Amino acid sequence: MSKIIALNWKLNPESIREASVLLSHSDNRNVIVFPPFIFLPLAKNKLKKSGLGAQDVFWEEKGAFTGEVSSSMLLNSGAKYVLVGHSERRKYFNETDEIINKKIKSAIKSGLKVILCVGEPSDVRRMGLTEAKKFIAFQLKKDLDKISVKNLIVAYEPIWAIGTGKSDDPAESAEMAGFIGQILKYKHKISDPKVLYGGSVDSKNVRDFIGFKEIGGVLVGGASLNKEELGKILKQI
Ligand code: PGA
Repeated sequence: MSKIIALNWKLNPESIREASVLLSHSDNRNVIVFPPFIFLPLAKNKLKKSGLGAQDVFWEEKGAFTGEVSSSMLLNSGAKYVLVGHSERRKYFNETDEIINKKIKSAIKSGLKVILCVGEPSDVRRMGLTEAKKFIAFQLKKDLDKISVKNLIVAYEPIWAIGTGKSDDPAESAEMAGFIGQILKYKHKISDPKVLYGGSVDSKNVRDFIGFKEIGGVLVGGASLNKEELGKILKQI
């Protein structure tokens, strides 16, 4: 089964010119690029092989919601995927599980493929993997409440590993990915669940993660903005 390399640009880069350069280095069959909204049409034009996604979505389709972007706007701009519930959105924009649940419902209804991000904070993980599993199971229960969908991707991103240079132990992430996969399969009836790992993935550790059958790919933040690093990552797929 081929592995997914999802590239989350976050709030980068500053210019269309820089975005074009990054896009030309990202075009690969295994890749899904998640640029800021404003670069979606450009990405749609430039990418011939990669998938395209947005970093967020609003749950209403239209109306008086200044600053928001709807699922149909994303689809019409060329996005097929959307990230929902990234820990930075939960932290800086106070996104609750209820909000995330509404966003997933709206995205699925319009036909976008969702990558739901979940992950535990460091104080939970310090208590051990069993406690972390309980935390993740509860997050999934709330985020996926009353949602029935055939294909949904989950990205397991331990919060303490994001942007810190301290990735998780790949074997422990694989165990967590296996656990999440079981929940998706047996509770949510998703026949072929895919679980990605995210958090300080780079060219030196990417193989350690994707080498595990439980891990369906990686979500890469910082390293996706550096074309040399990106090139090295893609070479290993
Ligand atoms: P990172 O970010 O690779 O910079 O840790 C991952 C993410 O936030 O998706």
